[in-house]
Amino acid sequence: PYPIYRRFREADPVHWGLSSLAGFPGAWYIFRHDDVVSILRDSRFGKERPATDFATADARPERTTVPEAARTFFGTARQWVVHRDPPDHTRLRDLLRPHFAPAAVARLRPRIAAIAADLLDGIARRGGGDLIADYAYPLPVAVIAEMIGLPADGRDLLVECSRHWQAVDVSTTDETWRGAGDAIDAARDYLRVLVRRRDRGTGDLIDVLAGGRDTGEVVSEDELLANIMFLFVAGAGFQTTTGLIGSGLHLLLSDREQWDRLADRPGLLPSAIDEALRYEPPVQTTNRIAREAVTVGGRTIGAGDSVLVVFAAANRDPAVFPDPDRFDITRTGRANHSFGVGIHYCLGGPLAAVEAEIAIGALRTRLPGLRPAGPAAWNPMVSLRVLQTLPVAC
Ligand code: HEM
Repeated sequence: PYPIYRRFREADPVHWGLSSLAGFPGAWYIFRHDDVVSILRDSRFGKERPATDFATADARPERTTVPEAARTFFGTARQWVVHRDPPDHTRLRDLLRPHFAPAAVARLRPRIAAIAADLLDGIARRGGGDLIADYAYPLPVAVIAEMIGLPADGRDLLVECSRHWQAVDVSTTDETWRGAGDAIDAARDYLRVLVRRRDRGTGDLIDVLAGGRDTGEVVSEDELLANIMFLFVAGAGFQTTTGLIGSGLHLLLSDREQWDRLADRPGLLPSAIDEALRYEPPVQTTNRIAREAVTVGGRTIGAGDSVLVVFAAANRDPAVFPDPDRFDITRTGRANHSFGVGIHYCLGGPLAAVEAEIAIGALRTRLPGLRPAGPAAWNPMVSLRVLQTLPVAC
């Protein structure tokens, strides 16, 4: 996608185009780094739809193309912390924040390392395999499922749910919307029973959200169930962390010089991961809605218009990142924004970075001779950039 993004960044950096977002006739695509950052920091851009909402969009007929089959999906998605504006956003984020803080993540390190070691044993035993299916996907799934407090059957159900939701990213037919809606209904029924039957005081994320509910109805049941689903998909199901581990390993394994440099200087690992995040941002774009008319790059974004900021273009803006199409693990200079900017900055950023650091570091130590064994293939999704397969032999 990067040559296309470059063309837009140079020729039409604030571009009105078709949007796959249900309920919007089109969207403004933002390609330049500084515009992306300023929009994400600007409170004139929010998440919730003004005067209407995803589920009951009637107030502005020209924007009410949400298909009937999509209503279950949006009824849940609009409850996610990432789709809320303050004060609801603040209320939900504040409950979760301590559990994703760097100190909390540091306590998870031994467990993450144990899961990685286990998966690597399997790859070593089999003499290779697919680094996505055998490593980069199961690792974050196991980590977030344990953090949430999900038993194995619940984890499988949410993996299935994530698959349906990802199908919507590629094609929005009535069938894919219905598949996503049915998967949500199944997951919601399962989680409702799980939450009601569980003991309290377990300290996992279900407990945290349910605890908020106990002390004064801070979190409604709908919000609780929707946000458990969201934490699973944000952390693993949407393959965000899989994307980072997978493309990090792909980039390094296909550039032996930088892979060997990492072996000589393991201290470079955090900057290698940061560079993989810049070069192949797993979340390529995110959305905002203009609350009022705002001029950006000489174009007027109207009140109620949808905006898609494109991290994948911002991260390769030569005004900020010299020689942007070069992957360089020793790159210094400005930070990239692949975890977002402002009040919705990725809550799981420190966790994802630690998972990637442990995954890549452990693999390099345990299987130093690992080599590519066939072509890697990308997933067809647009908003997420994730490898589907990465065959290796050792
Ligand atoms: C939000 C990226 C992993 C949980 C975000 C946003 C981005 C992002 C760009 C901001 C969206 C926006 O502004 O509209 C990523 C990437 C990941 C990753 C690239 C992996 C490499 C995780 C993990 C979790 C997580 C492991 C753990 C559950 C969240 C949550 C939010 C969020 C809860 C919403 C925060 C809010 O609205 O305040 N993520 N994410 N993410 N992410 Fe991540």
